[in-house]
Amino acid sequence: MPNERFDAVAAAYRDAGRLQARIAFHERFGGDVPDLHRRAWDRIDAPDDARVLEIGVGTGKHWRVNRDRVPPRWRATLTDRSPGMLDEARRALADTLPNASFEVADAMALSFEDASFDLAFAHHMLYHTTDPSVAAAELRRVLRPGSALHALTNGAAHLAEVHALAADVATAWPHVRVDTPDALSFTAENGATCLGAAFDHVERVVFDDALLVNEAEPLADYLASLVYIDDDALHGPVRAWLAAFARERLACGALVVHRACALFIAS
Ligand SMILES: C[S@@+](CC[C@H](N)C(=O)[O-])C[C@H]1O[C@@H](n2cnc3c(N)ncnc32)[C@H](O)[C@@H]1O
Repeated sequence: MPNERFDAVAAAYRDAGRLQARIAFHERFGGDVPDLHRRAWDRIDAPDDARVLEIGVGTGKHWRVNRDRVPPRWRATLTDRSPGMLDEARRALADTLPNASFEVADAMALSFEDASFDLAFAHHMLYHTTDPSVAAAELRRVLRPGSALHALTNGAAHLAEVHALAADVATAWPHVRVDTPDALSFTAENGATCLGAAFDHVERVVFDDALLVNEAEPLADYLASLVYIDDDALHGPVRAWLAAFARERLACGALVVHRACALFIAS
């Protein structure tokens, strides 16, 4: 049953499985469009020997897809609130960033000294914090004056077609919890206002495109990543239902799924 005290963010990122299913979905259906983290990297302007902070590193995808252009003298500190995600990032980036340090850290209260970084990344994570403006102020504090924060986020229309299917899942299974994006607190639409309270300059770069989803299994996997089931006996039936639901949805043709993202560069 939906539970008011359920910590959806902690549950989603206890380990890397749910995020990996979502990343695989984008990789599978992204077509020829360059990866979002690669397009965002194009906008970096930082010294060759920069001290770089990432909060909410997740699986480390940002670094993996840009491994051919990480400046060798950068000193990277990669953090996440979830020890499970940090373990996955440490494992996944062992070759790409052998000298990086990995630390558990909550964006809401960073333990780093003032002005200790030349660049910070907060990709697809500020909307998970209880108050993004507090996290923004913390990021501003630990950045050297004039240094930039790069933060990717989603817009209101992002994956709307998948979220409509998730609403159908919730209707069909009222006793399981299904995540919806309703509560996003930091979006492509409000991000500039939120960061503008802490930073002098905020630039917004819009990345809108679409996926053509024509295979049921990755769609069922994505939907499963939004579902939380307390009752073990329901796992099998829900999973089978999701597979059939995805097949049925695609039987009459591919599903066009719009992506609406924005990169904020704040300094
Ligand atoms: C959607 S994933 C994004 C991962 C990665 N930045 C990317 O773009 O692929 C969100 C990550 O933020 C982490 N996270 C959520 N709330 C956080 C917080 N308050 N402080 C630090 N990390 C947090 C989660 O554990 C998860 O690994």
